Amino acid sequence: MTRVFVFTNHKGGVGKSTSATNTAYGIVSMLRHAGAANPRVLLIDTDSQAHATLVTTGSKDYGADDSLYTVLMADRHNAAQTLLNCLVPSTWDADLHVLPASSMLEGAERELNGLAGAPYRLADPLNQITNRYAAIVIDTRPSFSLMTEMGLIAATDAIVPVEPRYLETVGLMSVVGKINEVRDGWRQPNLRVSGILVTKMNARIRGHKYLLDELKSHSVLGPLLLGVVPVNEAVSYAHQCHQSIFEYAPTAPASKAYMDIVAKLVRTLAAGGAA
Ligand SMILES: Nc1ncnc2c1ncn2[C@@H]1O[C@H](COP(=O)(O)OP(=O)(O)O)[C@@H](O)[C@H]1O
Ligand SMILES: [Mg+2]
Repeated sequence: MTRVFVFTNHKGGVGKSTSATNTAYGIVSMLRHAGAANPRVLLIDTDSQAHATLVTTGSKDYGADDSLYTVLMADRHNAAQTLLNCLVPSTWDADLHVLPASSMLEGAERELNGLAGAPYRLADPLNQITNRYAAIVIDTRPSFSLMTEMGLIAATDAIVPVEPRYLETVGLMSVVGKINEVRDGWRQPNLRVSGILVTKMNARIRGHKYLLDELKSHSVLGPLLLGVVPVNEAVSYAHQCHQSIFEYAPTAPASKAYMDIVAKLVRTLAAGGAA
C-alpha cells in the first residue's frame, strides 16, 4: 500500500507547506539515490492559498480545468482520469509531480457541502492511482474544514508540524484528537498520527527548550516526535527562489534536519510499517 502523508495543523504559519514540499522532494532524492526503481512522489496541495503549488511549480494560476478543484468537481466515473490529466511535473524534480491547488478551492467547500460522498472526492480517485507513486504527500490549509477532512480521509499518516510555543503545544492534543475522530468517524482504520514535527526551534530561547523537553516526556505525544527543525533564515530565502531547502542551502541546519526526517520516513516506506 502506498503511504500517503498529510501535513496538518489548524494553525497557520507552523511550517506545513515548508515541511510538505521539502519532504516530498527529499523522498524522491533519497529513493533515487538508493537506486529505487520508482522514486516518484505526488504532492497534493489542498490549500487555496497555493503556497506549496507556487514554490514547486513556479505558478499559482491554476483553476477550473487544471487543478484539485477540477478533480473535486469531476463526474465520479472520470475523476481518476481527471486527476491524472491535472498533474504537473514540479520545477524541482521531474519525478516530483504536483496536483495544484487553486483559489477556486475557497468556494469549493460551499459547492460540495451536501453533495453525497463529498468527503471522499479526493480519496476515491486518488486510491485508483496511488500505485504509480512511491509515496504521496498532502499539504492542508490551516483549519479543520471539509478540505482538510478530505485530505485526512485520503491519508495513511498524519504529520503535525508545531512551533515550540506554549499555546501551540497545548493545542496539540486537540489536533491529535481531531485526527482520531476522522479515523473513527469516517472508518479510516489506516489513518494514524505518525509524527509530530517541531518547527522553527530556537535552542537559545529557554521557553523553546522547555517546551521541547515537556513534549519529549509526554506519555502520548513524546513517542510521536519525528524531528526538530531549527529556525533558519535559509528556509524563507529558499521559498523566495522557489527552491527546495536542499537545493538552496544543502548544508544549512534546516536542510540537515529535514534530511533526517526524510530518512526516517523512507525507512518506514521500505519497512511498510509505522513511522
Ligand atoms: N525552519 C524555519 N525557519 C525559519 N522560517 C521558517 C521555517 N519554517 C517555515 N518558516 C517560514 O514560516 C512561514 C510559514 O511557513 P509555512 O510552511 O508556509 O507554514 P504553513 O504552511 O503552516 O502556514 C514561511 O514564511 C516560512 O518561510
Ligand atoms: Mg501552508
